[in-house]
Amino acid sequence: MNWTQYAKVYDLMADRNPAYQQLLKDFCAYMADLCIPIDGIILDLGAGTGQFSLLAAQYYPHCKIIHMDQDAEMIARAKEKAEALNLTNIEFICGDICSPQLQNGTVQLLLSIHCLYACGHHNQALAQAFLKIAPDGNAYFIDPGRCIDIRDWSIYIFKHLLKSRGLIYTVTTFIRGLPVARSNRTILKLQKEGTYWTHTSEQFGNALNQAGFTVNKLDTCYRGYSDRAICKKKALVV
Ligand SMILES: C[S@@+](CC[C@H](N)C(=O)[O-])C[C@H]1O[C@@H](n2cnc3c(N)ncnc32)[C@H](O)[C@@H]1O
Repeated sequence: MNWTQYAKVYDLMADRNPAYQQLLKDFCAYMADLCIPIDGIILDLGAGTGQFSLLAAQYYPHCKIIHMDQDAEMIARAKEKAEALNLTNIEFICGDICSPQLQNGTVQLLLSIHCLYACGHHNQALAQAFLKIAPDGNAYFIDPGRCIDIRDWSIYIFKHLLKSRGLIYTVTTFIRGLPVARSNRTILKLQKEGTYWTHTSEQFGNALNQAGFTVNKLDTCYRGYSDRAICKKKALVV
């Protein structure tokens, strides 16, 4: 999968897809209820162009956000946006989420949105994620468990854009978004051949439990394609 190619058009898709916008709104509602200590660390694994990490950086100006991704182009896009927003509390790390070079037990909130399925070794990534979290820390996961249906998504976004922005805007967006469709075809192929992880909600919850997480809420989102889990790392009682 060529994430560098996808990086160039990723925000075009994200900004025009109401289901993706809903994920961001839900995450804001989650943050509104969460108290993170001053100088706390928030880690976003597979953070891409910064859709979630930049929101967290704005929401928690007193915290340090670590934006980790393996793709330099994704990080470059996120950096540009962080600079435009004058955000100084975000650090960018180019690295593999399966072996993050970060101190254990230091993260108050860990996120991983639509990355675990593609990381190659989701159990290893989850085990590492668990280690990085501080006792009593939090984790917020969203992962696409079902194979992407490109026709279904195209019709959904086309209808939404046609209704809200008109025909010319819709057709122009689809032409500009051709690389998105190409990337999604590759993702579908990798899902079908088993290189990318597909799962039911139950399987997703079990993988999180096995890594040590306490899953407080598990639901489906993103039009039923993704599973979302709100988790805690319970502090050990001695
Ligand atoms: C679908 S994008 C999601 C980006 C972002 N979390 C969001 O929701 O907008 C998946 C991201 O995971 C990154 N990724 C995939 N495997 C990775 C790995 N093993 N380590 C770090 N990043 C990885 C890709 O580079 C890409 O930016």
